[in-house]
Amino acid sequence: MNFPESLIEQLRRARRIVALTGAGISAESGLATFRDTQSGLWSKFRPEELATAEAFQRDPKFVQDWYAWRRQNALKAKPNAGHRAIADIEERAPEFLLVTQNVDGLHQRAGSKEMVELHGNIHRFRCFENDCAGDNFDIENGRCRSCGGHLRPGVVWFGEMLPVHALESATNAAEQCDAFFSIGTSSLVYPAADLWRRAKDNGALVIEINKDPTPLTPLADYSFLGRAGEILPALVQHIWIHGGGVGK
Ligand code: APR
Repeated sequence: MNFPESLIEQLRRARRIVALTGAGISAESGLATFRDTQSGLWSKFRPEELATAEAFQRDPKFVQDWYAWRRQNALKAKPNAGHRAIADIEERAPEFLLVTQNVDGLHQRAGSKEMVELHGNIHRFRCFENDCAGDNFDIENGRCRSCGGHLRPGVVWFGEMLPVHALESATNAAEQCDAFFSIGTSSLVYPAADLWRRAKDNGALVIEINKDPTPLTPLADYSFLGRAGEILPALVQHIWIHGGGVGK
């Protein structure tokens, strides 16, 4: 795969790199995205019945079972070449931060460490009624042992605030980076979808890698339409392995 020489040069000089990822980077691991018209989760399930606090209040068991199904799928899945390329960039770039919207845990399993999870993690739990501290949880029965309340997945639902620290870290990193990657996301869900603009407004290069065009496509400095698991490893090869990009 060939990349514009100007992009290669700028990325080789980049000292601070941020990558935002979405469900598309896990698609090649067999996990459904959200908004793909055929296979997306929201084409089969109604978010208002599954991904809101009101939905959980109405029917905790129904929501718990759906997340248990997604959790099993995530555990069965394996990180793909796209996840590994991200971990590789972290190893090689002077400064790097991964900002993921994904809750599947595949980035960690691929070796990513410098990361923030904007939408939480499906393998974590919280007490719904009292948000009891600690993790004295009866996961099998979906109950908090401290108060007897229901266990909810440790993810951010529609209408909920993002974890303050994660959002702050992501925003600061975006505003201070030299290069910002947007990978496998439809760039429709805020505040994550605003991060590229913060990077651009502070002079960073914005690169999109996505299977389908998004609202970001016409606005990015470079947009590569295709599979992240193919494009990212090729870019890493070009920049850092064969190119002698600025290393750690
Ligand atoms: N490589 C690159 N991009 C891909 C691939 C692939 N192999 N497969 C699909 N895509 C792209 C699709 O073209 C789509 O634009 O990934 C994008 C996934 O978009 P969404 O399904 O909207 O997922 P995402 O952007 O992560 O959603 C954001 O919305 O539902 C909430 O909380 C949920 O974190 C999620 C948030």
